[in-house]
Amino acid sequence: MKIAVLPGDGIGTEIVAEAVKVLNALDLKFELETALVGGAAFEAYGHPLPEATLKLAKEADAVLFGAVGDWKYDTLDRHLRPEQAILGLRKNLGLFANLRPAICYEQLVGASSLKAELIADLDILIIRELTGDIYFGQPRGRRIATDGHFPGAEEAFDTMRYSRPEIERIAHVAFQAARKRSKRVTSVDKANVLETFQFWKDVVTEVGRQYPDVALDHMYVDNAAMQLVRAPKKFDVVVTGNMFGDILSDEAAMLTGSIGMLPSASLNASNQGLFEPSHGSAPDIAGKGIANPLATILSAAMMLRYSLNQEAAAQRIEAAVKSVLAQGLRTADIFSPGTTQVSTLEMGAAVVAAL
Ligand code: IPM
Ligand code: MG
Repeated sequence: MKIAVLPGDGIGTEIVAEAVKVLNALDLKFELETALVGGAAFEAYGHPLPEATLKLAKEADAVLFGAVGDWKYDTLDRHLRPEQAILGLRKNLGLFANLRPAICYEQLVGASSLKAELIADLDILIIRELTGDIYFGQPRGRRIATDGHFPGAEEAFDTMRYSRPEIERIAHVAFQAARKRSKRVTSVDKANVLETFQFWKDVVTEVGRQYPDVALDHMYVDNAAMQLVRAPKKFDVVVTGNMFGDILSDEAAMLTGSIGMLPSASLNASNQGLFEPSHGSAPDIAGKGIANPLATILSAAMMLRYSLNQEAAAQRIEAAVKSVLAQGLRTADIFSPGTTQVSTLEMGAAVVAAL
C-alpha cells in the first residue's frame, strides 16, 4: 500500500503529521513518501505542482493531502497559485467523484449555528463532480480593452460545460451510494436558467431509471442552499456539479458545527483516491499547534476504506475518534465549557492511545 503524503501549506503540515502517526499505529504495512505541494512547492521549485510530486501521486495507491493556499500568493499568475496544485491533481488523476460527508457528531451539536433539533443526527453525503463544469471549461480568459483608454482587461469569461459521460458516471456514483444508505438522491441544478444544468438534470433522470429502488428528486441550487439551513435533515445523498458542490459542501460542513472534523474522498474510476480534510489551510492559525487534526485523521480512514480496501482499519480509526470525543477532548475550534482543550499534538496522541 503505497501512499503519497502531500501536507501542503498552512496547518497542512501539522494535521497530516498526526494522521501519519495514526496510520503508523495500525498493524498494517504502508510505504509512505512525502512531497511538497502548493505554496511550499512554489517556494522550493517555482511551481505549485512539480513533476516529481505529480509522478509520486500517480504511482501511489492513494494520496493523503493536507491543504494548500495562503493569501500571500494572491498576486501570482493564476497558473502558479497554490490552488492549481489541487486542481491539477484532480484533473491528472481523473478524480471525478468527490465524497463530502456532513455529519453532526453527537457531542458537538452545541457548536453549530443552527438549533440542536435541526441538526442532531444529521448525516448528509454530498457528491460533487470534481473534474468538469466551469472549473475546467474552455475557453476562459480576459479580453483586453481596444479603445486604448483603459489599460488591462475589459471583460473576463469562464465557460460552463458538461458532457454526457461526465454526468452519467457521477450519477452512478450517487445512486450506488444511495443504495447503501436511505435510497434517496437529490440532484441539484440550475436548469431554470442554465443549458448545462438542464442537460445535467435530463441525464441524471435517465441514469435514475436504472435504479428504480432509489428515489430521485431535483432541486434548484438556490433553493438547496436555503433548504440546507431550513431543514437539513431532509437531505441524504446530494449530487451536483463542481461549482455548486464547492459552495454547498462548505455550507453543509459548517452547519454541522464540525468543519474541523469532516473528511473527504476524491476518487477516480479505479478507486485510486486523494483524501483531504474538508477545511482549508487556515494560514491565520498555522504553526500555533491549535489546528484540529481529526478531519485529516478521518480522511485517512476514508483512504483505508475506499482506496486500500481496509474497512476494519477504517472503522478502528473512526471508533478511536469517537472515543476521544467521548473523553471530552477538544481542540480550540470545537471547544465548549466543560470539555478539555488540547493541542494538535495532544489530539493526535489521544487518537493513537485510543487505537
Ligand atoms: C475545495 C476548495 C478548492 C475548490 C480550491 C482550493 C481550489 O475550495 O476543495 O472545496 O474550489 O475546489
Ligand atoms: Mg471549497
